[in-house]
Amino acid sequence: MTHPDLSGSAQTVTDAVVTRRSLRAFTAQAVDDDVLKAIFVNAARAPSGTNMQPWRVHILKNDGLAKVKASVLEAYDADVPFEAEEPYYPDKFFEPYLSRRRKVGWDLYSLMGIERGDKQKMKAQHRRNFEFFDAPVGAVFTIHRDLNTGSWLDYGMFLQNVMLLAREAGLHTCPQAAFCGYHKAIRSALPLDQVEVVVCGMTIGYADLNAIENTLQTERASFEEFVTVHG
Ligand SMILES: Cc1cc2nc3c(=O)[nH]c(=O)nc-3n(C[C@H](O)[C@H](O)[C@H](O)COP(=O)(O)O)c2cc1C
Repeated sequence: MTHPDLSGSAQTVTDAVVTRRSLRAFTAQAVDDDVLKAIFVNAARAPSGTNMQPWRVHILKNDGLAKVKASVLEAYDADVPFEAEEPYYPDKFFEPYLSRRRKVGWDLYSLMGIERGDKQKMKAQHRRNFEFFDAPVGAVFTIHRDLNTGSWLDYGMFLQNVMLLAREAGLHTCPQAAFCGYHKAIRSALPLDQVEVVVCGMTIGYADLNAIENTLQTERASFEEFVTVHG
């Protein structure tokens, strides 16, 4: 399998879609404030039912980033259990989702030389989430707790816009549900309103082109597996 070309910026929508991947190693290169702002301004052109625009974003940089990192890492290192306010995953995984989930996990761990059952190394790799994979920018996305499933659907479109616009700007991202379970630790570092539920976190920055974890190629089911053409 060829090494993905992570350099450069996306020139077309297709290019942005197919070069977007969840990266897990970033350089310290700063992200220009105007570039970052434009990504979020344009991402907010996402559609939403009756134009409700359910997204609320907390961009983390410098001391803001450091505070959230420190608070979540403290909880994680103290083995505070993951406890999300809204379930992202099913209580019990089942096929075909279980196999897909296992495969991406093992593929990442085997790239990193982490053997099955090596809980310590797995935990250390998972911990990288809370360091925002060393990127200079992080984000915490929240939604009003009284909003419904439709608004979560709208939210996904907004998040995808952020990730695709990042590609156009030569940036990469990693969306992170890992943060949902540490909303209490996030709250102690960020002035979130009580009505705000953490949807996910996201790392934003420039790809570390030498990191083995960034060579992960995830698979997709074939067109025939997920599409039924009628008529
Ligand atoms: C909402 C959401 C949450 C995710 N949470 C995490 C996470 O916490 N940590 C992580 O490393 N990857 C996370 N991912 C990345 C997925 O593992 C990834 O999208 C999937 O394996 C497909 O790979 P690709 O994004 O590189 O195409 C998340 C993705 C989404 C959409």
